[in-house]
Amino acid sequence: MTKIRLAPSYKSALKTKQRYRIIYGGAGSGKSHFLAQETLINMLQDNRYSYLVVRKTGKSIRISVFRLLVEMIAEYNLTHLFRINRTEMSMTCVNGSSLITSGLDDVEKLKSVANINRIWVEEASEITESDFSQLDLRMRGTSALGYQMTLTFNPISELHWLKKRFFDIGDKQAFVLKTTYKDNPFLDDKYIQTLQTMKTTDPQYFKIYALGEWGSVGNLVYTNWKKEDLSDIKNTFDNHFNGLDFGFAEDPTAFIRVHLDNKHKRIYIVDEMYLVQEHIDALARKLAMKINNEMITCDSSEPRSIADLKRHGIRALAAKKGPGSIEHGIKWIQGYQLVVDEHCINTIKELTSYSWREDKDGNAIPKPVDANNHLLDALRYALENEMIQNKTQVKFFKGGI
Ligand SMILES: Nc1ncnc2c1ncn2[C@@H]1O[C@H](COP(=O)(O)OP(=O)(O)O)[C@@H](O)[C@H]1O
Ligand SMILES: [Mg+2]
Repeated sequence: MTKIRLAPSYKSALKTKQRYRIIYGGAGSGKSHFLAQETLINMLQDNRYSYLVVRKTGKSIRISVFRLLVEMIAEYNLTHLFRINRTEMSMTCVNGSSLITSGLDDVEKLKSVANINRIWVEEASEITESDFSQLDLRMRGTSALGYQMTLTFNPISELHWLKKRFFDIGDKQAFVLKTTYKDNPFLDDKYIQTLQTMKTTDPQYFKIYALGEWGSVGNLVYTNWKKEDLSDIKNTFDNHFNGLDFGFAEDPTAFIRVHLDNKHKRIYIVDEMYLVQEHIDALARKLAMKINNEMITCDSSEPRSIADLKRHGIRALAAKKGPGSIEHGIKWIQGYQLVVDEHCINTIKELTSYSWREDKDGNAIPKPVDANNHLLDALRYALENEMIQNKTQVKFFKGGI
């Protein structure tokens, strides 16, 4: 077995017996690595450990925590000690300890999970307080190892229920640890440099992901939104609009699907996809599954990609954009209430970071920071035609900044 090196900043987290561990802070601080390492060590040392590891969606946990655990098992030469079931996203150690990963969207799978004594919620800012309460109920009975739930997350918004519950009100049963990239001795220089450049290019991002401080809502472009579980009502929606923003290098290609309710002035965001470096054939296939034969309005800066999508049978249109279209589009959208399906975790992430630029005195200026806007740009494209048709109402809009 290879030696497992833990980041020293997490020592206190290893010891605490509190029911809840709140491990939050900046990006790249080693939260996920620490939790994954500790999980494997525990499982190897005591056959009574029974883990449930969750994120909001099954898709996101497969490519994050489950992948990390599997890679770590290989890296530490532990392959002979764990049996991994990739389909189920679960594993058992030869001594009998067990681990199941699941999305909270997989209700049936969660129902079948019994007798767990450890829960790890990765990216806990994605889950609702009611999700948390449901998970909490799973930790009862008699376990010789006691019960513990760990929440790892970035402090995306000062309005988040996590802040209210564990920071403003506080919880006697909670252990809280904040870490930032400075606590991670294993981080490479390039990562640190990228984080540091955010200080000027994207101050909101810098605050949350470099300093690990709660995101402020002061300068956010959109505050007219709420999240809801739309699973039960989205089948009744019939006025769909689709938008696509093409990715470049590490930036994702972003797809968004909405239902527009003009009568109640609501935009329901029902579906999203973030795809990094996806081949156009695969993109077309995935889009076809989401939108069938409907139209989709795309970022016009890539006419070739639009032509390719058309060749694959997608009814792709180029957005008109034009001068002032960003500000105009934002104002138009601000005149509606956005209701975001709580499974659209990337849209929610963008909504909590997309901000106005600041002048040198820290006052907002009416130009958004060009970041955290992939899905939100796609949203403007999706509704562009509607905006043009309803242009007059923009005049009556009051609010925004
Ligand atoms: N104990 C460790 N050993 C080796 N590398 C580590 C360790 N902890 C963190 N890292 C490195 O730091 C990076 C960021 O850590 P990660 O756990 O993803 O941070 P966070 O979850 O806080 O964003 C990882 O991709 C990995 O390269
Ligand atoms: Mg992480």
